Amino acid sequence: MNSDFVYINEVGPRDGLQNQKTILSANDRLKLIKYLIEVNIPGIEAASFVNPKAVPAMEGAREIIQGLQDTAKCEISVLVPNLKGFELARDAGAKIITVVPSATETMNQKNINMSLDETISNSCNILKEAKNSNLRTRAYVSVAWECPYEGKVDSKVVLDIANHMLVSGADEIILADTIGAANPSSVGLLFKSCVDEFGHEILSGHFHDTRAMALANVCAALNEGVRKFDSCIGGLGGCPFAPGAAGNLATEDLANMLDQMGYTTNIDLNKLSKVVLFCEDMLNTSLGGRMSAWLNKTNKAS
Ligand code: COA
Ligand code: ZN
Repeated sequence: MNSDFVYINEVGPRDGLQNQKTILSANDRLKLIKYLIEVNIPGIEAASFVNPKAVPAMEGAREIIQGLQDTAKCEISVLVPNLKGFELARDAGAKIITVVPSATETMNQKNINMSLDETISNSCNILKEAKNSNLRTRAYVSVAWECPYEGKVDSKVVLDIANHMLVSGADEIILADTIGAANPSSVGLLFKSCVDEFGHEILSGHFHDTRAMALANVCAALNEGVRKFDSCIGGLGGCPFAPGAAGNLATEDLANMLDQMGYTTNIDLNKLSKVVLFCEDMLNTSLGGRMSAWLNKTNKAS
């Protein structure tokens, strides 16, 4: 048994909801985020400051951040694709800024209309500006294992991008398996290289469950010392610009596995499974996580 604390960062309100058929109002997203805070999730990626014409589901980021100004017990972050997004986020009162470079030329073009070099310098500038404004910072390296357009990604490119982000002020690097193409072996190898280079404390994993390997991938990263993971309530998710990206690892499945392995997450699993039901109601669809059906049955039986 391992009693280490594992930090779960809920990304459903951003990565999860950006790609759903049902578009939720900012007010409904705020309600969901407030329920998630009650469950004791330590971090939430609450919104993205992107062009609402490109991602209509993310409209209203400003209202969301302003509605969360008094949430001391949960660390609220936002995703920004460019300097304009950063300025909007900072002016709305965001305290943690996340940049989102992808590891390949084509993915950056499709996602944020920039070349790989432009993306790296754009992300570095945002990180420096954020540090000048005393904000905390996170940096994804998206498609860190495989890109839907260019195939397998060279780990040297991932390490190089991560290094640029850290030098420019990133407090955390999140290796993202955006399309869910990684497996426990490739996850172990890439995280080992990154841990050797940067140390495990600043690393985090973000896994999609397209091929049912997200939990196994978490275990591979845990074995390398990583103690921070993104996940989505109900396994929501998918990227509008990455064909083939299915849902994220479900937060309830991750929290339950970690709990049963003896790790500490602080998350209230009973309350969390009720938020899954609430989310299903709001989206009018059943969600992908496995564990809440089991927990709800167990609760009824006892
Ligand atoms: N937030 C809101 N609006 C923005 C913006 C931002 N961060 N950045 C640019 N815009 C607006 C501009 O003001 C301009 O508006 P106008 O048409 O009314 O004049 C329009 O978007 C085009 O601006 P431009 O700088 O040429 O951007 P672009 O067309 O190259 O688009 C992005 C770049 C990043 C803004 C856009 O591709 C985007 O929002 N992508 C979403 C990426 C995403 O969310 N991916 C999933 C998560 S990883
Ligand atoms: Zn994702």
